[in-house]
Parts: sequence; C-alpha cells; structure tokens
Amino acid sequence: MKAVLFASLLVLYTSVLCFSQRRIMDQPNERARAAAHVLQTQYFSDENGTYPRAIDWTSAVTLEAVIHYMAVTKDLSYISQVDHFYSSQAAASLEHQQFDDMYWVSNSWLEAAKLLKFIRPDLSEKYLQRSRHFFSLAFTGGWDPSTCGGGQRWGPRNHYKNAITNELSISTAMNIFEYTNEPYYFDVAKLGVDWFLRDYKTDKSMFNQDGLINDGLTDQCTNNKQTTWTYNQGVILSGFTRLFKHTKDAKYLTLATDLLDSILKSYLIDPETNSLVEVCDPATRIACNQDQQIFKGITIRHVSYMLDIIRDTKTQVANIDSYIKFVKAGAEAVWTRARDPSSGKIANYWRGGDFSRLQMTTETHVAGLEALVAAASL
Ligand SMILES: *[C@@H]1O[C@H](CO)[C@@H](O)[C@H](O)[C@H]1NC(C)=O
Repeated sequence: MKAVLFASLLVLYTSVLCFSQRRIMDQPNERARAAAHVLQTQYFSDENGTYPRAIDWTSAVTLEAVIHYMAVTKDLSYISQVDHFYSSQAAASLEHQQFDDMYWVSNSWLEAAKLLKFIRPDLSEKYLQRSRHFFSLAFTGGWDPSTCGGGQRWGPRNHYKNAITNELSISTAMNIFEYTNEPYYFDVAKLGVDWFLRDYKTDKSMFNQDGLINDGLTDQCTNNKQTTWTYNQGVILSGFTRLFKHTKDAKYLTLATDLLDSILKSYLIDPETNSLVEVCDPATRIACNQDQQIFKGITIRHVSYMLDIIRDTKTQVANIDSYIKFVKAGAEAVWTRARDPSSGKIANYWRGGDFSRLQMTTETHVAGLEALVAAASL
C-alpha cells in the first residue's frame, strides 16, 4: 500500500514537473533561448570562432541573429563568442566578394555596435568601424549610374541590378544613419530609394503588379520576373519604416505596409500554418540551396525591425493585428512543427514533416531562430 502511494506521488510529481516545463517552453523568450543555445553549442565552433558549415555571408546573417536574440531577450550570454567571431571572420576575403555580402556584414556589425554601445563601448566602437568599412566598400564600389539610371550592381565583376543589393544598401544606410546621425548615410539611402521606386509597379520596376518584388532587372532595365524570394520582400521593410521615422513622410510607411500586406496575401504564406514558405521548401522538393535556406529568417527579422519602429514611434497602422498574428504563427510553426524535439534543430520547411527528409543546416536553424526571436520581441 505504501509502495503504491509512493509510486502515485512520484507520478504526480513528475507530471507536475513536465507540466511546468511545458508551461515554460510556451513562453516566447524560452523558445528563443533554447534555439539560440542549440545554435551556439552545436553549430558554432568555439575552437575557431566560426560557423564551420556556413558560408561567409550566411555566417554574417547568423551573427545578426545572435545579436537580435540578445537584444530582444537581454540574455547577453554570447558576447564573447561574438567577439571571437569578429576576430575569425574572413574579412579580407569578404572585401572581394559581392556587394550584398558586404552589406550583410555591415548591417550585422552595426546591430552589434548598437547592442554593446553602453555595455562594452570598446567592442561597440570596433564593430562600428567594421560596419562602416564594409558599407563604404559596397556603396562606393557598387553604385552604378552607367545603366538603368543608377542603382547598385550585384558585384565588382557583375553588372546585375538586383533587388537584394539595392534593398540592403537602403536599409543598411538608414540603420547607420539612425545610429551615427551622419547625413552622408541618409543621402545615400535617399539616392538609393528614389532609384528603387522609379517607375513603381510598371514593367521597369522590380515591384510587380501583385506588389511583390522580383529578383532584379534585365539588361534592358525591365523587371526580369525572376523569383520573388521571401528576402526580396523582407529587407526593404526596415528601410522604408526608418525612412518614415526620420522624414515623417507617410509615403514610406505606406510602402512598407503595402508590401507586407502583399506578402500576407501571396503564395509566400503557407495556408496550413500561416507562416512563410520559400518556393523551394516543400518536403517533396528539398531544393533550397544554402543561400535560400536562410531567406525566411532574414524576412521575418526585418518584419520584426519594422514592428519595433512602429511601436517605438507609436504609429497607428491599420493592419497591425494581422502582422502580429503572422509573427506568432511563424514562431508557432517553427516550434511545434519544424523543430526536431530530439535534437532541438530546426528544419527548412516550417510545415514540418519527416525530419529525415527535411533540410537541417546552420542556415535553416537560423531562419527558425529569427522566427522565435521575432515572437519574443512582441
Ligand atoms: C578548426 O579549424 C581547424 C583548422 O582548419 C580544423 O582542423 C578543425 O576541425 C576546426 N574545428 C572545428 C570544431 O570546426
């Protein structure tokens, strides 16, 4: 009888423990914390200060995810790993890569500089210098009035005028402007955005009739109708919203909300989970390359930055509830469907499925982490 009583008490005790554990893991901060922990213990090399299986640009995007996580949760566990990454980053090689690669580097170190401004001013200053350095290399090398009346070209040896490089130049410039207050960065952003918006939604624009942004322009300077990758929609959202914040011109806010509304109505939303889906994601295809595996994370990160600015400026936005719902749906899908509970690793396809058939890499994990961080920031 005693044994039975003891056994039932034990069962009761463990179920209470499991229940409270589950309750904790329902909290957005704790989900983000768990995913950041997996990233920094399983995908980061403490020996070398790198993400060994990531490539240079996705490593920079990964750094920004860790910074975003620390900024949102105030859990500053990874400062020394970030500084180790700084010393190990392939900076010399990145100076000769594509201009978008340089902008990823620039924006990530700017975010790091912001986070550490008052905590570690020494590191913050060093990170700001790297941010400025890569911005300046990308802009002076990449701004190209020789075709299409301006815009950024993709790389030193590549004339392609694509969406991502132009969006990054604008959003990064506004981010550095906000931090340094130096008019140079605002002027660069304005030059870029005026060009980016020229012939808006005509066949000469990267914006198509559905309000989504295709990949870039043809040699004849018309919309090339190539894939509307999620990140082509995402990165400019923070740029537009910061332009609104600093110019008070409502046009920029409308551009941001129209674009986000267009995303939410499009095939970039999976109807089953109401979260982002990349065209290469579905389990039957397993076709996302290493670049594409991180795109959704970049997109949700810039939605998160946009919502931060809207909140900080106390701006009224008509569809704000649908934006918040969208961010929550992404985190819910990532946590309950795309995360393999046995390893804590997050797969590419947020609808989930058989984990042995899904892609699971540093990049897919970072994309999922950003969804969890975005939800934690609400
Ligand atoms: C660190 O770099 C060395 C030299 O490239 C390599 O042999 C080692 O496997 C790396 N360690 C990790 C954990 O990636």
